[in-house]
Amino acid sequence: MNITLHKPLVLIGLMGAGKTTIGRRLASALSLNFVDSDSEIVEAAGCSIADIFEIYGETIFRDLEQRVLLRLVGSEPCIIATGGGAFINPTIRAAIKEKAISLWLKADLDILVERVSRRDTRPLLKSGDKGSILSKLMEERYPIYAEADITIDSNAGLHETIVEKAIAALKQTVQHA
Ligand code: S3P
Repeated sequence: MNITLHKPLVLIGLMGAGKTTIGRRLASALSLNFVDSDSEIVEAAGCSIADIFEIYGETIFRDLEQRVLLRLVGSEPCIIATGGGAFINPTIRAAIKEKAISLWLKADLDILVERVSRRDTRPLLKSGDKGSILSKLMEERYPIYAEADITIDSNAGLHETIVEKAIAALKQTVQHA
């Protein structure tokens, strides 16, 4: 694919939006490295996200998330998948706006609920009904995710289709940058 990125592309969106899956495929299509900020946090902390929340609490998780993302967005062009709360942090958001291109994978509630129900590891979804929690997070976060440079509908369709849509949008953004 003949797009040359001069800065990292950061995927944002709620849990279940497909940031990691689509990010990996995008990276492979564009011959770029893929990095997942949650995996970097797990590696730095030496334990799972669920354990970080349980043992140290969300504030410590958010500190680690900020540290990891400020480092990653300042790196060479690559594809970065973030955790759903990352872009909500004003410091991370400002760094992404300054140093990277942001792409919001936007999905509807029923799709998100279906996707997050496949795995039971997400600490924020353990305290109640997944649909109600995600619906509240959508209300709070969608206006902020909407500040992304690019928005892609990640509801239905094959992963390939979403990747193609992302690449087409990225081409336009890079051309007009
Ligand atoms: C979170 C999303 C998770 C993870 C953590 C908090 C959030 O990542 O970072 O559990 O605040 O939305 P995914 O969006 O990859 O599930």
